[in-house]
Amino acid sequence: MSFKIIGTGSYVPEHIVTNDDLASIVDTSDEWITQRVGVHERRVSVNETAADLAYKAALNALSESGVKPTELDLIIAASISGETLCPTVAGFVQSKLGATCPAFDINSACSGFLFALDVAAGFYARGNVKKALIIGAERLSKIIDWKDRSTCVIFGDGAGAVVTDAGDNYLSSKICTKGGSDVIEIPSFSGSSPFYESPGKSPYIFMQGQETFKFAVNAMTEDVKEVVSKANLSLDDIKYFIPHQANIRIIQFASKKLGIPIDKFVVNIEKYGNTSAASVPMALDQINKSGNLNRGDLLALSAFGGGLSSAASIIRW
Ligand code: UT7
Repeated sequence: MSFKIIGTGSYVPEHIVTNDDLASIVDTSDEWITQRVGVHERRVSVNETAADLAYKAALNALSESGVKPTELDLIIAASISGETLCPTVAGFVQSKLGATCPAFDINSACSGFLFALDVAAGFYARGNVKKALIIGAERLSKIIDWKDRSTCVIFGDGAGAVVTDAGDNYLSSKICTKGGSDVIEIPSFSGSSPFYESPGKSPYIFMQGQETFKFAVNAMTEDVKEVVSKANLSLDDIKYFIPHQANIRIIQFASKKLGIPIDKFVVNIEKYGNTSAASVPMALDQINKSGNLNRGDLLALSAFGGGLSSAASIIRW
């Protein structure tokens, strides 16, 4: 027994930051960002936390599913940008919703939502839950160095969520970690212990762009092939590919390497940038709300990022 998705939701803050806006802060241009990354604009929070965004995406997903917060047996949130380590983003959402179930966060950076789906699948396999809420939510603007043009033009804030019920629609999955901090690192507060020799690192995102790019294309291609094969399917059986929205060129490379037409990939990077753990559930909500999904359609989800981590799964709609 695994699960089926019975509702999706998403939420982004209202404030739009365009490439031209960024060109007034750092040495960049609309032309560079559009050509090298594919982002035209992104949403940036002015007064909402990652948990606030998560809550609003959750309300949206619950409303579509018809599930009441008190019926939830589990809430998992994937995030790297919560305002507090404790309470967690999921704990905040639980309290705001008036739910009473266990709620916890997981962190696997941009792959976090797919890791969370896999964790939820374990609860379903043990028969422990019926209705679950799984969220990816980020206020990445909090952990960006707004003076670093190689990262601040890429990311955005947002949240996506799904509500699940018992079913057999999570057909296969793969989660991977290639640990190390040389390619991507986001240090956190190292404390004020008089005994600890703090390295005094900047608390902002550090990323070796080209190394991450290579990792991303390979991970996406290999992970998708593997989960398709594990589900005894062929790539042609998949109606939509829902990739992490990190760089349009990564999606184009993967499309070529996999031999899949680009129009089968759900893309919204131009509007929202890279929203890390929120990116896949936001794109899933977009394709669901577009009315282009029918029950039985097969979807391939794929994500990669800090960790380094990557993940993919096949879901029957
Ligand atoms: O979600 C987590 C996973 N993250 C990713 O998957 C990100 C993967 N990596 C990427 O998307 C790309 O590597 C970046 C978008 C981060 C960078 O693009 P790139 O094509 O790899 O650029 P680059 O780092 O090789 O830099 C090329 C040039 C450099 O100038 P020089 O040395 O050639 O003169 C950079 O200084 O572009 C320059 N550059 C910029 N120019 C204008 C870097 N950032 C900018 C900028 N505006 N924002």
